[in-house]
Amino acid sequence: MTHTEYQNAVELLKKYSYHYYVLDDPITTDEEYDILYHKVVAYEHENPSHILADSPTQRVGDQPQEKFDKARHLSRMWSLEDLFNRDELDTWVNRITKVYGNVTFGCEPKFDGASLNLIYEGGRLSQAITRGDGVEGEDVTQNAKTIQSIPLSIDYAGRIEIRGEVVIFKDDFEQINEERLKNGESLFANPRNAAAGSLRQLDTRITASRRLVFMPYGIGENSLDIPNLSERMEWVYALGFRRPAMRHVCRSAEEIEGFYQEMLGVRDTFEMLLDGMVIKVDSISVQDELGYTVKNPRWAAAYKFPAIEKLTVLRDVILQVGRSGVVTPVAIVEPVDIEGVTVERSTLHNFDEIQRKDIRIGDKVIILRSGDVIPKIVKVIASERTGSEAVVPRPTHCPVCGSELLDEGALIKCQNLSCEARVVNSIIYFASKQCLNIDGLGDKIVEALHKAGLVHDVSDLFSLTMEQLLSLEGFKEKKSRNLIDAIAAARGCECWRFINALGIEHIGEVASKTLCGAFGTAFDTASREEILALEGFGGEMVESILEFVRVNGEKIETLRSILSPVAPVKIEAAENPFKGKSVVITGTMSVPRDVIKNLLESLGAKVASSVSKKTDYVVYGEDAGSKYDKAVELGVALLTESAFREMCEADASAPLADEATAPQGSGVKPKYSLFD
Ligand code: IVH
Repeated sequence: MTHTEYQNAVELLKKYSYHYYVLDDPITTDEEYDILYHKVVAYEHENPSHILADSPTQRVGDQPQEKFDKARHLSRMWSLEDLFNRDELDTWVNRITKVYGNVTFGCEPKFDGASLNLIYEGGRLSQAITRGDGVEGEDVTQNAKTIQSIPLSIDYAGRIEIRGEVVIFKDDFEQINEERLKNGESLFANPRNAAAGSLRQLDTRITASRRLVFMPYGIGENSLDIPNLSERMEWVYALGFRRPAMRHVCRSAEEIEGFYQEMLGVRDTFEMLLDGMVIKVDSISVQDELGYTVKNPRWAAAYKFPAIEKLTVLRDVILQVGRSGVVTPVAIVEPVDIEGVTVERSTLHNFDEIQRKDIRIGDKVIILRSGDVIPKIVKVIASERTGSEAVVPRPTHCPVCGSELLDEGALIKCQNLSCEARVVNSIIYFASKQCLNIDGLGDKIVEALHKAGLVHDVSDLFSLTMEQLLSLEGFKEKKSRNLIDAIAAARGCECWRFINALGIEHIGEVASKTLCGAFGTAFDTASREEILALEGFGGEMVESILEFVRVNGEKIETLRSILSPVAPVKIEAAENPFKGKSVVITGTMSVPRDVIKNLLESLGAKVASSVSKKTDYVVYGEDAGSKYDKAVELGVALLTESAFREMCEADASAPLADEATAPQGSGVKPKYSLFD
């Protein structure tokens, strides 16, 4: 590699990262990236004096630091005044409009993470400082450099402070905790703590592994002459920073309230936690005139969302035995309303975690529930103890079958294969939506069938008779017939459902689909090497499959002969407007989204979950939120559900424009139906 080739390679890697981490729109594969990255590493190894400061290799150091130095911000970092309701919003807005008349207010999400101040000088990131007391924080430059959405260099030579919030996506947070659970480490209470903790790691390699994300929200010291904050932020995004999924400049309290309600409605669809909406006077000159109180700017406020953390009392701890025998403690708490949902139970993960957090029955606890985050106990208020709280004992015997439990530390297991809980839960899993999707075979019915001695194993389901069902309480002719038909309908299932229904440890829906795609119904004949070569398959998964096949060969055979699963036959979709296109579905439709997804897939479309420049269409329903906004922003074609139906139903060979506008009832024979 020549010096020029090296410089070009660094530029290209930066471009790849920008697309991946800032725009959420990858333009290459991981493999291509890695190949180029390694070439750059090799060149730098040979030519250490040529290493560019903004080379991606410079993001992670290899020596842990001993401590963080204190560092002063160039200009103070402020807090925000909180507003909790419409009245407080009106008062706040009036105080400003009374004096300044028709000012406008930039509104954007309030990200729940850790604030960070980035100082750029001469186009380079020179320092990254945590908020601290607002005047002085800790120098975490080395850690900030590992955050891929923080550019190491920008196209601006002046000295400038760019401020933002470091967050962890909810999915990444759950994954980090899952891993920590496996390794017997203490869990992070919430994504905010995980982000703050990760930012303050002395070993940058740990920070680098945490997938932190920087969301810019403001500018500190600067010499810009852009008159509005919203335009200044546009300038910041153009430097290579992430842009929030929702932003709007509002003209009145009314409009602010409308946008707030809209954001609240889609709060759960954001990848990171939000705790409110921030409102900022847009004009910099008005901001300067309004000035600051001791703590807060008078030109900005946080309009808080309803809390997702609430105080409650731990009433009891009950034990659940899963299909694999793992005994999981579940907290029963004094019912508490969190955002319109009554929370009565929360996961406690395992007994090591209970001991580590010293959770006792009767304790006052803080519980967290955010839409898609499972309710969990975040903290025990130990200072409020009265002395009557009871320690939760580690169980020694299965609460269901009474057999002795195997205590492996983090996991406690019931070893009895015929334990009622294990059997019943395996059958419930077998019939569930992601497995054989047997209609009407829910928890209660499986329990009743097992209690009556009719079903001891999933294969027994297929020999159930009308007479047997009719003998059960609550089963009349119709219900019994429907159940027998639904069970029979599982025969000839898609092959991945058969694999998933076996309940092999570490093998879920995605892995089952991959196995089925590669080996068809004969996945159990594949070798270690063949399975390992599949995308997304690691050692643990492969061993789990091989062990399952070794122990359960007979069971696999029996089920295969009962179910006669079918491997997918790849039928190429006929020409149609969606073939080969990337489509995103958002908002509420008149039919479940899965129906539309299946239809699109049968038309040869790829249904993606997030909107990017590569998206061809966004099909939207009612209450569409951030994905709709993103589509507008990127100029992606938007289709209402009815426009989408018209395109599906129009003659597929007609040109696209005609299809989109084909009048209903035009006599064109429907080609695809939503209700197939
Ligand atoms: S503006 C002068 N905007 O919230 C304005 N802050 O409670 C100061 N935060 O310290 C902050 N998202 O860490 C602003 N969109 C946003 C924000 C945001 C999160 C954090 C920030 C700040 C804290 C104040």
